[in-house]
Amino acid sequence: MEHAFWTEAWATGRTGFHSESVHPALHTFGHRLLREAGETVFVPLCGQTLDMPWLASHGHHVIGVEFVKDAVEGFFVDQGLVPERSSFGAHVRYSAGRIDLLHGDVFEVAKGGMPRPVTAIWDRAALVALPPARRSAYVQGVIRPVAAPGATMLLNVFEYDRSEMDGPPFAVPASEVHSLFSDCRVELLESKNGVSRVHRPDRPVSRFDILTWLIELPT
Ligand SMILES: C[S@@+](CC[C@H](N)C(=O)[O-])C[C@H]1O[C@@H](n2cnc3c(N)ncnc32)[C@H](O)[C@@H]1O
Repeated sequence: MEHAFWTEAWATGRTGFHSESVHPALHTFGHRLLREAGETVFVPLCGQTLDMPWLASHGHHVIGVEFVKDAVEGFFVDQGLVPERSSFGAHVRYSAGRIDLLHGDVFEVAKGGMPRPVTAIWDRAALVALPPARRSAYVQGVIRPVAAPGATMLLNVFEYDRSEMDGPPFAVPASEVHSLFSDCRVELLESKNGVSRVHRPDRPVSRFDILTWLIELPT
């Protein structure tokens, strides 16, 4: 059902989440995420985000995971890249330069492993796109198994009054971030008022905060 929802979204251009510029939080806090030259950055639920070529242009390796094939293939066309295709566990791997996209379900990545050890994770519009009931499986069954010890994660989420609006994107309260990553060092880097950026005039909200968290996994 989730796959059908997203396939339809890409097919009909209902992709308001996609930005034509690099995410401001990555610009501002990239130095906290990317501590070494040549990090390997996992971008779950990557869509066609331009954050990926930006990361690659700064010398980092990128592994995105996306289950809509047209989104994966369209990304390479838009970037003017011709990827090599190969089978990789439950996924099809598309590789071009420092960018690898795995086409398939993100919940399958732990089974087949990653093409390279993941040292950093950029979660923008991934956790908030998943139904709340799948959050624990996402953190425990996807993020934790693929991340190298001591990996760093930049997590960009939303908070709003759930009596005013329902997801997606789903609200992720601070208490839940702490609970999902209870054994990690968790730091709130930024909380920005994003009311003016909610593109849902049919569902006005009085508060919409955009929060960026830094999470350091145990070594
Ligand atoms: C809200 S969009 C965010 C895309 C991207 N992170 C960005 O910032 O533009 C969520 C994306 O995740 C994909 N997706 C949703 N569930 C997925 C899953 N279980 N496995 C892989 N991709 C998934 C959707 O097709 C969609 O492209």
